[in-house]
Amino acid sequence: MPIRNTTEQWGSVAKLLHWAIALAVLVMIGLGWWADRLPYGPLKVDVFWVHKSLGMLILAAMVLRLAWRLINPAPPLPDSLKAWERWAAHWTHWGLYGLLIAQPLSGWVINSAANFPLSVFGWFTVPAITGPDEAVKQLAANVHWLLSWLIIGTIALHIGAALKHHIVLKDDVLRRMLPFGKVSS
Ligand code: HEM
Repeated sequence: MPIRNTTEQWGSVAKLLHWAIALAVLVMIGLGWWADRLPYGPLKVDVFWVHKSLGMLILAAMVLRLAWRLINPAPPLPDSLKAWERWAAHWTHWGLYGLLIAQPLSGWVINSAANFPLSVFGWFTVPAITGPDEAVKQLAANVHWLLSWLIIGTIALHIGAALKHHIVLKDDVLRRMLPFGKVSS
């Protein structure tokens, strides 16, 4: 499998980043939802710690992924796609890039405004990006909640489209992103 993208399929770096981030985001939605509903206590603090740590790693991986995407053109979509389908694919993909960068940033603001220390899995400390401020914390928490629903909606569209390509259109669009997917051409 080539490291870089080709006109037929995604390269190994793009595939690795795609599936690692996809898995991490699903775990993050579960952890965030669970932690938010736990009663105050050590378990809540621990679950949030894992949520925040993994979220900061997602932010780093997304910055890397965006850079890699900008220097590596994506394999083109099949010619048979209608204009609105191309438009929808373009905006869901770039929407996901934006959302998955904005979401950890809003989490980072909540944590900073709450004046909480942030050590990523105990490996390194991340500095605060705002001073302590209750109103900023509340605003960032509302943004974080809203973005989590936008992420869930966009991921649902994205998975729906991938399955449509595979099952209805029977093209290579999903296969060329699978870890060991063989493209037909
Ligand atoms: C892609 C990354 C992330 C995703 C998908 C995500 C998702 C979520 C979700 C689904 C919730 C529950 C919202 C609710 O039910 O009200 C949540 C809550 C929370 N997350 Fe994240 N999160 C991410 C990154 C981060 C990061 C990096 C931090 C901090 C450094 C963070 C801090 C928090 C905090 C403090 C809450 C509780 C908010 C509140 O008090 O209402 N998150 N997150």
